[in-house]
Amino acid sequence: MDRPPLAKRYQARRCTAEACGLRFPVEETSDLGASCPLCGVPTERVDAPYQTFPANRGEPRALTIEVLLDNVRSLTNVGSIFRTADGAGVAHIHLGGITPTPKHPKLAKTALGAERSVPWTHHPDPCKAASALAARGHRLWALEANATSASVFALETLQAASGPADATIVLVVGHEVSGVDPRILALCERVVHVPMQGVKGSLNVGVAFGVVTYTLRHHTGLSNP
Ligand SMILES: C[S@@+](CC[C@H](N)C(=O)[O-])C[C@H]1O[C@@H](n2cnc3c(N)ncnc32)[C@H](O)[C@@H]1O
Repeated sequence: MDRPPLAKRYQARRCTAEACGLRFPVEETSDLGASCPLCGVPTERVDAPYQTFPANRGEPRALTIEVLLDNVRSLTNVGSIFRTADGAGVAHIHLGGITPTPKHPKLAKTALGAERSVPWTHHPDPCKAASALAARGHRLWALEANATSASVFALETLQAASGPADATIVLVVGHEVSGVDPRILALCERVVHVPMQGVKGSLNVGVAFGVVTYTLRHHTGLSNP
């Protein structure tokens, strides 16, 4: 399993043209940033160099979470889901249908190494994959906002996530436009949604996945030092 990268040091640079004044970070030892990326005027280093640190590692997790991506088409979204899955300790990602796999060279742009740390398999037919996972006793939870879905923050949802302790929950995430296939929804024990407060009916798929996964983790035993 890959370890988080070591801390890096950065410098802040600012454009010397008063009318521009763009301020941006570059690595402390980098030659990049000598001229302003907006207006081309020379820049100067401002303030003291600083360091960023990776987040603390969480405690061992109580709940096993796997993920089934049902035809999630965007490389950026899938890469981002890999990165979140790595952070949240997801045990396996099942890539279904047209979902791109880490064999695509551009997936690493957003996965940033997590495509090597999280085990994955590809299944041409996500419905068959869902049936097989259910037959193994895994609990399928779809992420979708529909007439039967419950808020992921509802007490009942959170309590349901806690047991039985040895079961695996497979979070099913749907296509960016058409959502989770109804045939898979029919196999799901639960459909959970992230409540929406604005004019939009849904979140970006990777964002929804992050909210639900970390919510379940938080309520089933993950604690950060
Ligand atoms: C953009 S949505 C699909 C379109 C959505 N069915 C609609 O009618 O707008 C793509 C996927 O992201 C996830 N998703 C997006 N917003 C969500 C939310 N508020 N709650 C749960 N899942 C969500 C679901 O897995 C969904 O299948």
